[in-house]
Amino acid sequence: MNITVKTGVLTDFDCKILLVGHFEDSKTPQGAAQFLDQKYHGLIGGLIEEGDFTGELYSSSVVYTGEPARSRRILIAGLGKREEFNLEKLRGVFSKATQKIQDLNITNLAASLDFGESEFPARETAQAAVEGAMLGLYRFIRYKTQKKDKESQIEELTIIENRPELLEDVKAGVKTAEIISRAVYFARDLVSTPSNDMTPGILAERASDIAKENNLKIETLDEPAMKNLGMNALLGVARGSAEEAKLIVLEYNGGKKDDRPVVLVGKGITFDSGGISIKPSEKMDEMKSDMSGGAAVIGTIKAAAELNIPLNVVGIIPATENLPGGKAYKPGDILKTMSGLTIEIKNTDAEGRLILADALTFAGKYNPAAIIDIATLTGACVVALGDFITGMMGTDRDLKEKILSASETTGETVWELPLWHEYEELIKSDVADMKNTGGRSGGTITAALLLKKFVNDYPWVHLDIAGPALLTKDKPYIPKGASGVGVRLLVQFLMDRSRASNVSNP
Ligand code: BES
Ligand code: MN
Ligand code: ZN
Repeated sequence: MNITVKTGVLTDFDCKILLVGHFEDSKTPQGAAQFLDQKYHGLIGGLIEEGDFTGELYSSSVVYTGEPARSRRILIAGLGKREEFNLEKLRGVFSKATQKIQDLNITNLAASLDFGESEFPARETAQAAVEGAMLGLYRFIRYKTQKKDKESQIEELTIIENRPELLEDVKAGVKTAEIISRAVYFARDLVSTPSNDMTPGILAERASDIAKENNLKIETLDEPAMKNLGMNALLGVARGSAEEAKLIVLEYNGGKKDDRPVVLVGKGITFDSGGISIKPSEKMDEMKSDMSGGAAVIGTIKAAAELNIPLNVVGIIPATENLPGGKAYKPGDILKTMSGLTIEIKNTDAEGRLILADALTFAGKYNPAAIIDIATLTGACVVALGDFITGMMGTDRDLKEKILSASETTGETVWELPLWHEYEELIKSDVADMKNTGGRSGGTITAALLLKKFVNDYPWVHLDIAGPALLTKDKPYIPKGASGVGVRLLVQFLMDRSRASNVSNP
């Protein structure tokens, strides 16, 4: 979809449909809707007066202007109640509206963001609207071979800004939204791609593509290199698989030379069968998504580079399959991590924390200003917080506040769980420094407590995305399937942290 911003009168552009909004509690059309209503002799007002269109959130009506060629149709989108309106709702509105337009086989639209009085700045409004449209229209059709599955897609979206003084802000918002949404698409594509086409090696190639496109430093450690570093926890998990494990290290240096980096660590299990402690076959297919954290990290770095965020960011993705091959690690095995600490394996399905343990130790080499890891780590987190909410635990109050603030801005819901030290008891081992599971209860917390042993004193936050990484139901602007969760959150976190204008070189 090509997106452009133009200034002028809504009806002067050559497009198949005009998209405008209406608040539920507004008796008469406002903003762009008012303009069209006047031009077309009460066309929209009549609809509202008759109660045929109420402005209920996510509802919409299509009306016909009687024009012979351009602007023949208007889609009026319900914005819901004005006092309940926010940018998260706007994302949903633009998603639902553009989906409806796409369903009508219309490939070209113009939209106005003038809803009458608004408390939201033009730039953020434009960003949210375009994000909603782009994120909602995403489809993963790479493997569909039949034409009917590849139906029409909106090709052209024009945002018409009738207030010329807002044009630059709107353009900046659109540009930011495009960069971020494409990074989310990228992450979703990686996650949606089945594990036969998304091995650790292929994941490393995709990261390398991103590095080439953006002039980033990348280094991919192979198994001998990891062996030299003593990463036996990561290598232990990899032993059951014929695919070679990779440790992908992607560096974006947008900050000053000596600025300590933010290090992002993403779990990259390209398929989690559970290993010898094998998972039930039902839904095992969903475990192609066990590299969602890694995908989020690569996507975040792609966006950070394209947005020229003035920070140094390092992405570390430990990548391997977890399979029960003949050489697979087994319950009872003891693995010596890169840090020197030993872990007794109680369950080979608790593999994420093992590869993250070594990756977190490796992260320490960068003397990070902060470490954030993101992982589809525990089913227990889904039990605690459901399918849509990311669990957060960490050692640094300020860092956690910043994540919560980014969560608020982006609508990627995050909720803190306590990193309650008393539960460390649960991962004590009789024979090693710790064991890799603490039993069923408090499973998300005991997993985080294990990770904590590998981060030293760096400010650290752990994000458990086991719930929201792969959706089984549509959300207003996130179609079911791979969500790309984490990308928008982490990019927002980085933008907030840099506090500089985020598109210095659009
Ligand atoms: N990748 C899974 C966690 C997961 C579960 C992600 C459901 C997404 C949806 C992880 O490796 C795992 O298997 N965790 C185990 C840990 C247990 C053995 C302590 C779990 O949650 O059951
Ligand atoms: Mn597992
Ligand atoms: Zn896993």
